[in-house]
Amino acid sequence: MASLTSPISLLCLYVISWMTCASAYKVLDDAFLRLVPAGAADLDIKTGALLAPLLTARTAGSAGHAAAQRHFIDFFHSSLPKWSIDWQNSTDGKGAGAAQNLVFRREPPWTKPGQANILTLAAHYDSRPATAAGAAQRGGSVGAVESAVSCAVLMHVARSIDRYLTQMHDEMDALGEGGEFDMDMGVQVVFLDRREGQRGQGTGLRSLAEAWEAVNPALSNYRTPLNQISMFVPVDLIGAANPMISSYFETTHWAYRGLANIESRMRNLGLLQSNVTGPIFNETGKSTAQFVGGPAQGDYFDFLSRGVPTMPIIPPTPPAVWKTAQDDGQHLNAATVQDWSKIMTAFALEWLDMMEVTPTNE
Ligand SMILES: *[C@@H]1O[C@H](CO)[C@@H](O)[C@H](O)[C@H]1NC(C)=O
Ligand SMILES: *[C@@H]1O[C@H](CO)[C@@H](O)[C@H](O)[C@H]1NC(C)=O
Ligand SMILES: *[C@@H]1O[C@H](CO)[C@@H](O)[C@H](O)[C@H]1NC(C)=O
Repeated sequence: MASLTSPISLLCLYVISWMTCASAYKVLDDAFLRLVPAGAADLDIKTGALLAPLLTARTAGSAGHAAAQRHFIDFFHSSLPKWSIDWQNSTDGKGAGAAQNLVFRREPPWTKPGQANILTLAAHYDSRPATAAGAAQRGGSVGAVESAVSCAVLMHVARSIDRYLTQMHDEMDALGEGGEFDMDMGVQVVFLDRREGQRGQGTGLRSLAEAWEAVNPALSNYRTPLNQISMFVPVDLIGAANPMISSYFETTHWAYRGLANIESRMRNLGLLQSNVTGPIFNETGKSTAQFVGGPAQGDYFDFLSRGVPTMPIIPPTPPAVWKTAQDDGQHLNAATVQDWSKIMTAFALEWLDMMEVTPTNE
């Protein structure tokens, strides 16, 4: 009888409860929601360690473009050493003409290539060149909503989920839990280059989609790296006041509803700062007949068309400053930027089933 209360039995109960919940997207409880950190001072437009360095023109081949790449690499290298760092450079352009995508990934330590399913958060980091026609209007635009804020928010998400990933991996490892199909969950943050392909070139996303069609090693759980993407979440054109994000695809509507739920719960708990005229995620009640296609703007089609579940966090109506010289730090809504940092972090935590990891206060 003593065995009933032995640590081994308790361990087994724990393991069983873990495994039966393994495949479910798990809503965070109120206590955990309150612990979700905002980017705070790191998202300040002048002094913020994450955002400020990105608020500079970042056209291909420019100093700002190279500085953005270094910013990402330095951040992951120094703050998130358990994440792998990979370049994916296109082969259809040389030097500054090649798309230079950066992929930062964290998988469970026991998984082999091709084994984990991977939540994939993406944002563009290049800014548009001033075209002849738009030069006067766009001159000097640093692309704050397009897409410095998106990049900085994703850096914040990676940093905020990292300690929970470590805790979960350690606990699973200690329990010999690795190898469960659903629970082998990883995350990658992709910074995409070359938003628009020039003559004879694709976009950075297309280059990545083609590269990730390569077949994984034999006996992998997933045939290709694209198949490993459990959800593709491209983030673009955020940072202005009063955002509204549509639900674009029925296949990912359930996850959209998860985001809407996070937003309304955080607002009710007083955890969000921005004043809004209505919910950000304003299409929770969409019916099957109302799904007619994705956002006109934003880069997602090359993954979507290859069957990757896709949930764009892209407003159907771009902010008014978009493509003008006013798309800069001054025209961002600071409270909204903070709210994005919390909402997207909570979403990643729910996706990764982090209620299984007991949150501990700082
Ligand atoms: C990709 O391009 C970057 C930037 O030019 C360069 O530093 C890096 O070495 C390249 N990586 C590969 C794998 O070609
Ligand atoms: C939101 O509105 C309240 C009341 O009008 C105001 O006091 C507060 O400063 C506003 N907050 C932001 C971030 O604009
Ligand atoms: C949600 O907001 C977007 C952007 O303002 C708008 O285009 C769309 O019609 C709204 N959807 C609903 C159901 O109100």
